[in-house]
Amino acid sequence: MSNKFNWAVLGCGNIANDFARDRIKMGGNVYSVANRTYEKAVDFAKKYGIEKVYENIDDIFADDNVDIVYIATPHNKHIEYILKALENDKHVLCEKAITLNSDELCSAVELANSKNLILAEAMTIYNMPLYIELEKIISSGKLGNFRLAQVNFGSFKEYDMTNRFFNMDLAGGALLDIGVYALSCVRMFMTEYPDDIKSQVKFAVTGADEQSNIILRNSKEEFASVTLSLHAKQPKRATICYDNGYIEIFEYPRADTATITYTEDNHTETIKAGDISNALCYEIENMENAVASGENTMRLGYTVDVMNIMTTLRKDWNMKYPEERVK
Ligand SMILES: NC(=O)c1ccc[n+]([C@@H]2O[C@H](COP(=O)([O-])OP(=O)(O)OC[C@H]3O[C@@H](n4cnc5c(N)ncnc54)[C@H](OP(=O)(O)O)[C@@H]3O)[C@@H](O)[C@H]2O)c1
Repeated sequence: MSNKFNWAVLGCGNIANDFARDRIKMGGNVYSVANRTYEKAVDFAKKYGIEKVYENIDDIFADDNVDIVYIATPHNKHIEYILKALENDKHVLCEKAITLNSDELCSAVELANSKNLILAEAMTIYNMPLYIELEKIISSGKLGNFRLAQVNFGSFKEYDMTNRFFNMDLAGGALLDIGVYALSCVRMFMTEYPDDIKSQVKFAVTGADEQSNIILRNSKEEFASVTLSLHAKQPKRATICYDNGYIEIFEYPRADTATITYTEDNHTETIKAGDISNALCYEIENMENAVASGENTMRLGYTVDVMNIMTTLRKDWNMKYPEERVK
């Protein structure tokens, strides 16, 4: 890994630590860092040998040496930083969920396109080698046509309504936090956008979506069902069904192994590609390749589709974040 591009990290929480650790593991470095709480940025810089710490977040955007900004703040702070980075000619890799809704994402995509900049969501599923391998198998035709998928994600979070999982002021709710993984997985396998979107939802007392069933269908009669919960553990399991067999992926947000069962004789095939411990390395590498080539190979189209699904669902649920309410 070269240090061809200067990365600035914005935010110093859990995932930013994973990012810096993986970047270094790849033999690269992080050029600079900024955080809401300056002292934490200083500690982060010491921990990862980062030379430049900005006093203010906006200093990132004014630094001509920054090529790529990695945004790792809560979802409701993404759009502001994405737009500032793009306005200042920086490429952007932004944590999931990339924005709160489709309008925000649309404005970011338009700006990125108008400036020939790479904008991408840091969605592990789009970058893990396992999925690339599965795509090859599917394209070979041996599984036949896609029929349906069942994808779950359930975490048990204590009922603390101030934490980011339930707090509407921090863009809480299962859909944006974990549903984005399930829907990204579904979208990768469905061959067309599912415009028939139905659901059931249960809200936490804050108004954040705590639990939901989501069913999807597209014009090719491909189906998917997704079950989410923030207060009931479920295996993170994806079952993807084709004419001639089915693919099972456990821990699908970061997976390196899948099993295919061929239904004609029930024989199974284990597919192994990549390594889950390198999950962020793949997205960093793919982002650098996209920036180097000038071509957005980061599956932004899927990100846009998933955001459309989530925006449609929240509209049906009449669920608005404070940023979306008319002032
Ligand atoms: N891809 C993945 O596998 C993965 C995993 C976990 C999370 N994520 C995503 O990454 C993002 C961050 O999650 P996390 O778990 O790392 O969160 P976290 O540990 O709580 O860290 C949040 C970071 O954002 C900063 N921040 C909080 N509120 C802010 C505000 N109003 N303005 C500016 N900065 C603010 C915090 O700064 P302070 O130090 O000042 O508090 C902290 O640096 C979320 O969008 C989440 O969905 C992705």
